Amino acid sequence: PTPHAGATGGDGPVVVAHRGASAYAPENTLAAVDRAAAMGIDWVENDVQRTKDGRLVVIHDATLNRTTDAKRLYPQRAPWRVKDFTAAEIARLDAGSWFGRWYAGARVPTLRQYLDRVSRNHQKLVLEIKNPQLYPGIERQTLDLLNNEGWLDGDHLGRRLVVQSFSADSVRRVHRLRPGIRTAYLGTPPTAELPAYARFADQINSAYSGLSPRYVSAVHALKGPHGTPVKVFAWIVNSGGDAERLTGYGVDGLITNVPDVVRRAVTAS
Ligand code: G3P
Ligand code: CA
Repeated sequence: PTPHAGATGGDGPVVVAHRGASAYAPENTLAAVDRAAAMGIDWVENDVQRTKDGRLVVIHDATLNRTTDAKRLYPQRAPWRVKDFTAAEIARLDAGSWFGRWYAGARVPTLRQYLDRVSRNHQKLVLEIKNPQLYPGIERQTLDLLNNEGWLDGDHLGRRLVVQSFSADSVRRVHRLRPGIRTAYLGTPPTAELPAYARFADQINSAYSGLSPRYVSAVHALKGPHGTPVKVFAWIVNSGGDAERLTGYGVDGLITNVPDVVRRAVTAS
């Protein structure tokens, strides 16, 4: 077993497909979820935002133009903000062609569609509330949808779901609204400030370049809101060498665009 086996209760860091298997299929689409599943990767990460008419959708940027054909379809609507388009308008967009012709016609999924696919694939989800400052009340709305879709029952709460954000306020809000949910703060707080984060976050999910064995140990020494050691997931780890090094640091998870490469490295180390 790797040195951190005690912290994870497993044999090594879990591998999380970042925005799905996003090196191989267009990010945050159902195709990227399925691609991860086809590789045997059971954790996926996504980004949740909200449309003009209040629907939750899965997309990373605050604007539509990088990952869809919004500019072509709606030339007058610059700067193509997600929050300025209705769900019906977004549903018409092609979210696959930018990535490759093979994926033409892939859609921006609603969160409901996304959850349904992850469930069907028997996968687990790291759900990121993205840009929460743009979407007042998005935490409660997301939790309501998760609840309606069966994602807040005992099994999901303990084993299949982590909710994360770069906004500490947003993570704290999720924890207060539904204390059973496992949460993660995205960032690398100074060691002295970690105890404050451990009051509402079960995980610290950090850019891998800021991590060291000492920092990972400092996080593991803390107990999170559920009384278990706080975990560390590292992102975005896209090489086997980095995956091996971070496994040596004792991280609990590796968030990656190339989950097949990272899993090979983790299994070998
Ligand atoms: O899960 C970590 C990662 O998703 C944070 O960065 O910009 O890809 O959402 P970003
Ligand atoms: Ca993300």
